[in-house]
Amino acid sequence: AAAPLLKGRRILVTSGPTHEPIDPVRYIANRSSGKQGHAIAAAARAAGAEVVLVSGPVEVADPRGVRVVRVESARAMMAAVEENLPVDAAVFAAAVADWRVADAAEQKIKKDAGGAPALHLVENPDILATVSRHHTLRPRLVVGFAAETETVVAHAQAKRARKGCDWIVANDVSPATGIMGGDSNTVHLVTAAGVEDWPSATKGEVARHLVARIAAELSGGAA
Ligand code: C5P
Repeated sequence: AAAPLLKGRRILVTSGPTHEPIDPVRYIANRSSGKQGHAIAAAARAAGAEVVLVSGPVEVADPRGVRVVRVESARAMMAAVEENLPVDAAVFAAAVADWRVADAAEQKIKKDAGGAPALHLVENPDILATVSRHHTLRPRLVVGFAAETETVVAHAQAKRARKGCDWIVANDVSPATGIMGGDSNTVHLVTAAGVEDWPSATKGEVARHLVARIAAELSGGAA
C-alpha cells in the first residue's frame, strides 16, 4: 500500500456536470461522466487525505471514505464549495455549465403553447476563478481542468492565467479520442514551470499521479 502522503490534509474535489433547469423536467448540461473527478477524490482518500467531493448528477458510485455533497446547479456547487473551505488543495474537475436559464419555468413548458420557447441565458459563477481569487480562503494549491478540442496546451496556458489557478490539467476531448466518458485519459499538466506531457493512462492512474504531485507540492517538495 502507498504511504499516506496526504495524511492531515484536506482536499476538495468537484466532479461531474451541473444541470441548469429550463423547467421542472428539462435542463441544460455539459457532457461529463464524473469518472476523472471521482477517481481523484478516491486517490486523495487512499493517500490519507480528508476529502470532500462536490458532485453534480453522475452515475458513478461515491468513492469510499469520502464526504460527498451532491448538487444540481452551478450556483449550488459554488455554495457547497464555499461552505467546505478552507482546504489545503482544491481540484476543479467538474464540467460546470457556463450559462443557466434566467427565469426557469415553475411548470413544465407546454409544446402547444405557441412555438418554441426562447431561452434567455445568463452567466453562471466561475467556481474555479472565484476560489483562485479568494482573499482569505484561497487554498495553497488550486488545480483546474481544461477540456479542449484543439490547440490544447495553448488554450490551457491562457486559461491558467485567466482563472488565476496554479495548475491546469489539460485534455483533448475531441470525439475521436474516446476520452469523454471513457476509462483512459491523455493529459498535459500546465504549471508556472512549464508543460508536462503525461503518457496515456487510465483515469485512475492519472488521478494517482496527480495526487502524488499534489502531495509533493504541499510538502514543499518538487514543483
Ligand atoms: O472555462 P472552462 O469551463 O473551460 O474552465 C474549465 C475549468 O474551470 C474546470 O476546472 C472547471 O471545473 C472550472 N469551472 C468552474 N466554474 C465554472 C466553469 C468552469 O469551476 N463556471
